[in-house]
Amino acid sequence: MNLRMRRLRENSLIRDMVRENSLNTDDFIYPLFIVEGEDIKREIKGFPDVYHFSVDRLNAEIDELIELGIKSVILFGVPDVKDEVGSGAFADDGIVQKAIRQIKSHTDEILVITDVCLCEYTSHGHCGLVDDCGHILNDESLPYLAKTALSHARAGADIVAPSDMMDFRIAAIRETLDENGFKNTPIMAYSAKYASKFYDPFRVAGGGAPQFGNRKSYQMDYHNSDEALIEVELDLQEGADFIIVKPALSYLDIIRRVKDNFNTPIIAYNVSGEYVLLKNAIANAVASEEMIYEILIAMKRAGADIIITYHAKEMAKMLKECK
Ligand code: PBG
Repeated sequence: MNLRMRRLRENSLIRDMVRENSLNTDDFIYPLFIVEGEDIKREIKGFPDVYHFSVDRLNAEIDELIELGIKSVILFGVPDVKDEVGSGAFADDGIVQKAIRQIKSHTDEILVITDVCLCEYTSHGHCGLVDDCGHILNDESLPYLAKTALSHARAGADIVAPSDMMDFRIAAIRETLDENGFKNTPIMAYSAKYASKFYDPFRVAGGGAPQFGNRKSYQMDYHNSDEALIEVELDLQEGADFIIVKPALSYLDIIRRVKDNFNTPIIAYNVSGEYVLLKNAIANAVASEEMIYEILIAMKRAGADIIITYHAKEMAKMLKECK
């Protein structure tokens, strides 16, 4: 009888030595929602332990993240004013631009990634421009997305992350960044982004729910997986440096397929709906915090290098305590 597997598991030091995957605080990207106004740190309805911050309350939050060992954030802006073309997304004094400057003047110890999209800034709530009949205007949206990415880079963003899912937007953004002196600003592309109900809590947080129709003409159909590989390939050809798969938990197969087919850093976005499910289960004492750990490890095992997650802070605390 061969007891090889038992022998590798019996001694906990050996078990740790042969362990294939682990979670560290620097694996996490923590999402932050920024609102206009002053002295605001307000919990978002239906989104436990996730807050709206005004720019002047960011320093304390950033200090806490650094203290916990978290090395990067992704910023989402929630503007007061919206219009047809989402002007707030690329305004020099836009909410995200102000937040980037605030964080960058406070510290250089945290990487600032910005979500590039129009949905929080457009009156209709779509990720690009729409015509009179409500159809998405793909090509007409590209200069607006490129302007948005450029204004983030100008404000000091380290990485831009387009989440709009228009075709050819990575090429448009790359070209605009390059022409304006930002050749070294990487693009983290939401490449395999599915039209998912798991974004619902986020849409409350960002105020970016579509006012008519849905996002199925530009986000992916979750009945498909080959299509994810096409999206990833196109984005890499157009100049993406990192690939995001989103959502993550019900899409572990997609993460694995991307990992097996491309040699590129993969980011799993553990989205708002996935987070809320677990938080509510934990609040009702039918789940434990260890489940969060197990789920995030599953994302690593599937092939994710980095995870965007609202659990980052509680996980960082847990990892510290368990050391
Ligand atoms: C903006 C954007 C969304 C999310 C990230 N960027 C919403 C959407 O596409 O509808 C969702 C994130 C989450 O649910 O946590 N386009």
